[in-house]
Parts: sequence; C-alpha cells; structure tokens
Amino acid sequence: MFPTPFVLPFALLLSLPLVFLFAPRILPPKDVQISLPDELDDLALFRRATLASLHPPGSVSRLGTTNPKPKIAFLFLTNTDLHFAPLWERFFDGNQQLYNIYIHADPSAKSTPPGGVFENRFIAAKKTERASPTLISAERRLLATALLDDPLNFYFALISQHCIPLHSFRYVYHSLFAPPSSTESTRNPTQFRFRSFIEILSDEPQLWDRYTARGKNVMLPEVPFEQFRVGSQFFILTRPHALMVIKDRRLWRKFRLPCLNTDSCYPEEHYFPTLLSMEDPNGCSHYTLTRVNWTDSTGGHPHTYGPADVSPELVSELRASNSTYSFFFARKFTPDCLKPLMDITDKVIFKED
Ligand SMILES: *[C@@H]1O[C@H](CO)[C@@H](O)[C@H](O)[C@H]1NC(C)=O
Ligand SMILES: *[C@@H]1O[C@H](CO)[C@@H](O)[C@H](O)[C@H]1NC(C)=O
Repeated sequence: MFPTPFVLPFALLLSLPLVFLFAPRILPPKDVQISLPDELDDLALFRRATLASLHPPGSVSRLGTTNPKPKIAFLFLTNTDLHFAPLWERFFDGNQQLYNIYIHADPSAKSTPPGGVFENRFIAAKKTERASPTLISAERRLLATALLDDPLNFYFALISQHCIPLHSFRYVYHSLFAPPSSTESTRNPTQFRFRSFIEILSDEPQLWDRYTARGKNVMLPEVPFEQFRVGSQFFILTRPHALMVIKDRRLWRKFRLPCLNTDSCYPEEHYFPTLLSMEDPNGCSHYTLTRVNWTDSTGGHPHTYGPADVSPELVSELRASNSTYSFFFARKFTPDCLKPLMDITDKVIFKED
C-alpha cells in the first residue's frame, strides 16, 4: 500500500486525462478567447499598416497613371461560402481600377474559395465566433490589410456573406465620392469633408445590459456609460477613421474582455460606434447604408428574406431611407435567393438611376 498522503495526489494525477476527455461534454461551450500569439500577430500587422500610412510610397507610380482615382475596399467577413459571389461579380464588372476586395473567412469553416474577382483575395484569417471580441479582431485585420495593400483605398466597406447590393457599383462610387448637392455643401464647398457611414445610437433600451455584459464597472475609466454607443456592424469608414481604429489600444483593452453575460454580448456592435463617436463624432453619418429588417427578429438575428420575397418591389422598398442617401446594401438573404436576384440584376438592381 502507498502511504496515505500520496494516494490523493496520485488519484488526481490519474484522473487528469479523464478530465480532458470529458471536459468538452461537461463544460458549457466557452467563447473563443484571443490568445497572446494571435494578439501579437495583429499588433504587428496594425503597426506595419500604421507605419506604411505615415510614409506612403512615392505618389501614384504604383498604377503608372498620372491621376489615379481613389478606391473602395470591400471587406468581406464570412464564416461560410460567399453565396452571392456571382451577384457581386456582376456588381464589380467593368470597374477594375476603382475597388479592391479582401476576404476574411473563418479558417475552421472550410469554405470553398470562389474564383473570378474573388480569386486570391483571402487574407490571413483567424477563428471568429458570435458573442466574442473575435469579430472586432477580424474587422480590424481586414482594415489593416486593406490600408497596407493599396494607398488608394479610401473607403472601407464591410460586407457579409448574407449581404446583397441594392444599386450598381457606379451609383455607390459616385454617391461616396461626389459631395451631395445639398444646400449646405454648395453654399460652403470648402467645408465639405468625407464622412464615415456608421450607425451611432445612444438611446437603445438594452444598452445598460450590453455595457455591463463584462461585469460591473470594468469598462471604466476608458468607457463611461454616457459614452457607450451601439450601431449596426456594417459600416463604410474613411481612410483616416480606418487608421484611427487600427491604432486604438485604449478601448480595445476593454472591449476584448470576455462577456460574463453572453445574452447581451455583441462587442462588434459597440466597439466601432463608441470609438468613433468619442474621437470624431462630426466626421460620422451616425446612420448605416446597409439596410436590415429588425421587425420580429429572433435570437439576435434580423428578418431573413427567402427566394419568394425577392422582387423589384422589395428592392425599391429596401433602398428607401430617411437620410440623404438611399441604402447601398441589404441583409439578410438566404443562399437560395441567388437565382431570383440574378434574374433581376440588369433590369432592377444595377439599372442606372
Ligand atoms: C420586415 O419583416 C417583416 C416580418 O418580419 C415583414 O412583414 C416586412 O414586410 C419586412 N419589411 C420589409 C421592408 O421587407
Ligand atoms: C423613416 O421614418 C419613418 C417615420 O419615422 C419610419 O416609420 C420609417 O420606418 C423610416 N424608414 C426607414 C427606412 O428607416
């Protein structure tokens, strides 16, 4: 027999493999934590992108033209196949010099890479999961990669696999780069500056629960409740704002903390609106250009349109907005909407208006 003092530790040692074997089944699913190596990888990328922006490569020569136009960087964030790749392909068709595409696809999802304009547009990606700060990281990774890749990227539009375009590329490009002919900008043209299109709201009923999801007072002092904001994840940021986001360390330290209350945990819907409303509220539209239908939403998911819903009337209904701009994009659509959408591209969606 072993002397008794050894029995207990020995038994514990023997049971360790059993704990590992059964733990995944016993413990509730844990949200994905951002590991130190992943965090350091990101920091290195953000630092490179920041430095490159301080010293942009010798003007212009990159394209070999004397007057290159600014571009829109389309940032696709997905954890499945890009169901609407053929629709986007049509959207981009004929506008080669005016956009770039970057795709962050969750590596654990094993999605099939689409070809065409999406070929070789995948960036170094890491696992993403709802109700965790991994979505913020993925979006910052997309922004940094696009900033670094092409100094002509001026606007950065976040898109998901469930998003569809509601207008032609030319319409979107022109709306973003041509100052609106409102009385204000014509009377005062020198005052015009490019804004980010990002929703920033402060009067949502769930805001306190969302603020305290990581524990009481943990957001202080960097983020007082009075400055905590919410907004749609789908933004279009200007280059100065994209840089501001990847340079941030202060707010990220707080927003990267895991939620204790996962029912109120949507970090990506708070990080970007809170940061931008603290740093440059007047440089933001405070509304989004991606239409979502929240009527009768379930489990944090908005109304999802199916193939029977797709019609010219739906497209014009989804475009209609209360802001200066018509909505550019909409979500969410099921993958089998592709065919009915393709059937109305030329006559409806991309028809020049
Ligand atoms: C929004 O969704 C609801 C059902 O959830 C539907 O009745 C309504 O027609 C939708 N609105 C639009 C503009 O599609
Ligand atoms: C525009 O404003 C009206 C009145 O407040 C509201 O009923 C409608 O839902 C708004 N439309 C959109 C697209 O937000």
